[in-house]
Amino acid sequence: MLLEKLYINKGHFVVVRIKRGLLNLSSLPTQAGGVPVIVLKEGTDSSRGSEAQRNNITAAKVVVESVKSAFGPKGMDKLLVDNFGDVTITSDGRTILDEMDIQHPAAKLLVEVAKTQDNETGDGTTSAVIITGELLGHAQQLLDKNIHPTIIVDGYRKASEKALETLDEIALSFDFSKSPAFLKKAAVTSLSSKLVSDYKEYLSDMIVKAILEVAEKQNNGTYIVDVDDVKVEKKTGESLSDTKLVNGIILDKEIVHSGMSKRVENAKIALIDTSLENDKPEIDSKINIEDPNQLSAFLKQEEDMLRDMVEKISTTGANVVICQKGIDGMVQHFLAKKNIVAIRRAKKSDMEKLSRAIGGKIISNLNDLSSKDLGCAALVEERRIGDDKMTFIEGCKNPKAVTILIRGGTERLNNETERSIHDALCVVRDLVQDPKLVAGGSASEMEIASRLKKYAQTIHGREQLAIIAFAEALETVAITLSENAGLDAIDILAELRSRHEKSEIWAGIEVNSGKIQDMAKMDVYEPVTVKRQIIKSAYEAASLILKIDNVIASDKNKMPPAPPNGMPGGMGGGYPDIGEY
Ligand SMILES: Nc1ncnc2c1ncn2[C@@H]1O[C@H](COP(=O)(O)OP(=O)(O)OP(=O)(O)O)[C@@H](O)[C@H]1O
Ligand SMILES: [Mg+2]
Repeated sequence: MLLEKLYINKGHFVVVRIKRGLLNLSSLPTQAGGVPVIVLKEGTDSSRGSEAQRNNITAAKVVVESVKSAFGPKGMDKLLVDNFGDVTITSDGRTILDEMDIQHPAAKLLVEVAKTQDNETGDGTTSAVIITGELLGHAQQLLDKNIHPTIIVDGYRKASEKALETLDEIALSFDFSKSPAFLKKAAVTSLSSKLVSDYKEYLSDMIVKAILEVAEKQNNGTYIVDVDDVKVEKKTGESLSDTKLVNGIILDKEIVHSGMSKRVENAKIALIDTSLENDKPEIDSKINIEDPNQLSAFLKQEEDMLRDMVEKISTTGANVVICQKGIDGMVQHFLAKKNIVAIRRAKKSDMEKLSRAIGGKIISNLNDLSSKDLGCAALVEERRIGDDKMTFIEGCKNPKAVTILIRGGTERLNNETERSIHDALCVVRDLVQDPKLVAGGSASEMEIASRLKKYAQTIHGREQLAIIAFAEALETVAITLSENAGLDAIDILAELRSRHEKSEIWAGIEVNSGKIQDMAKMDVYEPVTVKRQIIKSAYEAASLILKIDNVIASDKNKMPPAPPNGMPGGMGGGYPDIGEY
């Protein structure tokens, strides 16, 4: 088989990897016995070998430049406007890349890196993207020295394995039931690089409490946490300092009818995901009514059907109904008369959370509803929050349900707060599931880099250069943190290298003081889980891009040109809009 792999990216781009030396499209004879050999459709764009590699690397590096300046506590935020004119202000690596609508196939891989990092660990997306870009940048220099891509990839693989090994060697284990303070320190570190860093202490206490509330102990003594058990709601308010942790679930919905009670104790809750309305016929139908009695009989029948719905709910003993769809005005009236409180149009995700929290079953057909399907909560109450009303469901049967209610002054601040809280929740979750830490501020990356350089001395041949390149890519974390803080990156890098040489393993750059410090003593900690994923994702994405030596794009999806080399960095720093490619 000549073709080694055929990737079809969303039906647009076709990237073909061809076993080197076996098939060279450009060297195929154009005539075979007088008949032209047509391999690719007219108009197909193709680039090969070092040209393809260079294009891909350059495109990926442009993407990296756009997130670099958002990195670390002194990083800048980005204001992004989407096709609908919606504005997002963020410093979150994944969100920036998601909103950028990137077209270049190699650059898209970096978006994938950020997504994987976010899905797996919740934090470290910018680090993963920056290190991937740096691995590619260093690879380009090696390619320019005529080192074959497979040698570079092999060197990178050895380096990544050694880096993961080193990470485990230097990791600090702790028992969070004895030292919960480490959980808070890691949450503070995660929040300190966000817009909400002024409230990092306050929010971190809440975040740690929330995760410990929903953590479940396994039989083997380890813990498992589902961050979705922590619901995050937003309502504009006076200030982020009014943000609260509530034991239970908050629904951004009000009680549907003014005649219903606003407070129900010992709630028995029915969860229904079908509408409490008379179904409209799916086909156009016409009813001819010839005498007034027929009309009233028809209306009565409709009313009886609605009454019947309420009857079915009421016989189960439910005193609260939460419905995912609409509730007819008449049904609302009948429910109110039976002292049953109702909420309509609850979100599907909220229904699922509620089901877990109150121990109730979501019912799609009212005929199936029985008292066994009801969930329980000590209190259901509608409360006024700011200008709106929200419903609080507290004292749930399953206590593993908590809600953080964000009360920042503007909607955009609340959206960014939600993203930042999500990162910090994930960091604490990572630590509860795998309680191992390293110090931040580039300390762990510098230590790994230092050990990798020693390891490289033991490897013969050209792979050694790739291992050194990997170490240098990790050092970018220190360089970027320093540059973003307006510090002299070269001096700092030199000083950090020499400190790590002297076995100061937690020496890092503390950007608030601008000094090199023992980052463990500065309480800047991060989970090993996050760092491990950064190394894995960066290695995998970089080697995937390096192994591509032929890009073929059909006429419809002409290959986007890679931007010229050596352009200035940063968003708005002179790059062409990546979205235009
Ligand atoms: N006080 C500090 N001094 C120096 N570095 C710090 C300090 N606090 C945090 N950091 C570092 O900031 C980096 C995290 O920055 P940031 O949160 O912007 O990026 P990320 O976590 O890689 O990506 P994202 O949060 O966008 O998913 C980490 O390397 C961390 O060690
Ligand atoms: Mg972060």
